[in-house]
Amino acid sequence: MKLEIVNVDAKAEWRLLKWMDRKIFNRENRLKKGDWLDYDCSLALVDGFAAGYVAVSQHSDLDDDKDALIPVPGTLFIGRVGILPLFRKFGLGTLLLTWAVTGGRTFGFSRITCDCREGNLAIRKLLEKKFGFKIIKRSPPIVILELRLSKDSYSLSRSG
Ligand SMILES: CC(C)(COP(=O)(O)OP(=O)(O)OC[C@H]1O[C@@H](n2cnc3c(N)ncnc32)[C@H](O)[C@@H]1OP(=O)(O)O)[C@@H](O)C(=O)NCCC(=O)NCCS
Repeated sequence: MKLEIVNVDAKAEWRLLKWMDRKIFNRENRLKKGDWLDYDCSLALVDGFAAGYVAVSQHSDLDDDKDALIPVPGTLFIGRVGILPLFRKFGLGTLLLTWAVTGGRTFGFSRITCDCREGNLAIRKLLEKKFGFKIIKRSPPIVILELRLSKDSYSLSRSG
């Protein structure tokens, strides 16, 4: 049994990411080639097989009016998290979000934001119940959620 999370260069690996996107998301929610470049992507590998990914953008947030990322210092935006259907409900979604939230805390971000469809109960259960995200804006059919991080939490970026 080998379970890994690895960072990938979205530019070099966009074909793999695109393939995963097609398996995970509806046509209207898929990213285009250039969109990947805004994100740091991490894959969950199960015995070397890419089972899911999380994509985050550092020091940026979603401008939902423009449906585009804007620079916001101190904010880590989770652009998407997705697990291939075969691998769902084993905890991999929790694992990848833990990875992203732990990264946010470790590197001194003050808040983490994420958007999802209001009716997406799977991701909302995870974000709200497991991680404590709160809805800060409703923009039907989308909701925007935020997790505020403690200023006291240890931060590598502030320690040196
Ligand atoms: C949302 C998603 C990432 C969850 O991944 P996952 O690996 O199945 O999640 P986990 O196994 O870690 O489950 C976490 C919790 O969510 C719950 N959950 C998972 N799927 C669920 C569903 N369809 N409905 C309700 N709850 C669900 C689980 O029961 C679990 O709660 P528990 O620990 O109390 O039992 C996955 O369903 C997915 O990829 N969906 C499609 C893509 C998507 O919508 N992404 C979010 C928008 S960016």
